[in-house]
Amino acid sequence: MTTLPSKMKGWTVTSNGEPKKALTLKHDLPVPKPPPTGSDILVKILYAAINPVDLHFMNVLPSWLPIRYHPTPGFDFSGEIVAVGPSVKDSHPELKIGEKVCGAMATKQVTFGKGALVEYVTVPAEMVSLVPRETSGGLSLEQAAGLAGIAGQTASFMAEQGRVEKGWRVVVIGASGGVGSLLVQILKSKGAVVYAICSEGNKTLVEGLGVDEVIPYDTHAPVEKYLEEKFKDQQLDLIFDCAGNEVIYTNSPKYLKQGGRFLTIVGGRSQGIVPFILYKMRPVILGGTPRPFELLALMPGGALARKAVEYANEGAIKEAPVDSEYAMEDAVKAYEKLAGKHAKGKIVIKVGA
Ligand SMILES: NC(=O)c1ccc[n+]([C@@H]2O[C@H](COP(=O)([O-])OP(=O)(O)OC[C@H]3O[C@@H](n4cnc5c(N)ncnc54)[C@H](OP(=O)(O)O)[C@@H]3O)[C@@H](O)[C@H]2O)c1
Repeated sequence: MTTLPSKMKGWTVTSNGEPKKALTLKHDLPVPKPPPTGSDILVKILYAAINPVDLHFMNVLPSWLPIRYHPTPGFDFSGEIVAVGPSVKDSHPELKIGEKVCGAMATKQVTFGKGALVEYVTVPAEMVSLVPRETSGGLSLEQAAGLAGIAGQTASFMAEQGRVEKGWRVVVIGASGGVGSLLVQILKSKGAVVYAICSEGNKTLVEGLGVDEVIPYDTHAPVEKYLEEKFKDQQLDLIFDCAGNEVIYTNSPKYLKQGGRFLTIVGGRSQGIVPFILYKMRPVILGGTPRPFELLALMPGGALARKAVEYANEGAIKEAPVDSEYAMEDAVKAYEKLAGKHAKGKIVIKVGA
């Protein structure tokens, strides 16, 4: 078994608020003691990818509660297995010491302070996937963290919930972000005609993901008028919202078929209860929009992590765009970039080597 150090580096949330105020890098956190119990595995983290939900946790969940005192943030990781629990050889025989894995920490773990922005984590074997095969076009370990993390899992979940059929005309709002950049590729692989909305500045990136047409929302402002002109005669089957564009929803009867659906991952409880009540519950007779507003919430899990990797292995996901890579010491800068809401794919932190 690899000899592990007794102390490790890791970021902790020492007070709630913006990343600069909230985060402290510690060098003396205890390394989980090997071997793990049951079907847990101990992973040396090589890359962590960060997500908007980390910022919500940092702002909202008290960092002083005894059950999550000075919690470590972060869900997504890729890394190397350094020890396995006694049940792993039967439950997950593919997960051996030395194998590279990727995935997201369980929500419960992060809620109780055991996030991924540290050098070593213990995680249930069920939560991870082996990294994409090298033959699949060579997605790197850096890309694997976002692919099998929250972004890739959410994209896989949205595609599953969309039940898209060949030839369907779909719009993806926020196509250049962590989730959107993977979702457009999955939808293309299912035979959909994909119209991708992003800023003019990200047009080239999104075109490179193989979509049928990019609609820059700043060039074609107001974009809901543009959608009306473009799709009034041949309406859309589905709209996927990865950016929280409420105006596109409220105007949707002008370009989304009757029977078409609006699936969003933004506008839920974490973004405020008002949009949820207005769009989900207000009857049409009281001014509600006559199209279903479906709000999806991801529970990170291994099945979706493995599904995202499978998409990469079979060539449906060819690119997992990385906006930028930061050193472990620069995690605050990474989170500040994320808070700007204009990342091109994933922001990744190099944790170990
Ligand atoms: N419900 C869930 O379970 C769940 C799961 C994952 C994520 N989320 C939420 O989903 C959202 C996206 O997550 P992410 O990880 O993809 O975030 P991200 O990587 O930060 O991407 C955000 C993207 O939004 C785009 N954007 C900003 N304003 C826009 C506008 N007006 N119209 C179209 N696009 C716009 C930006 O592209 P441009 O620079 O091109 O504008 C950027 O690429 C976040 O709000 C996150 O909290 C929810």
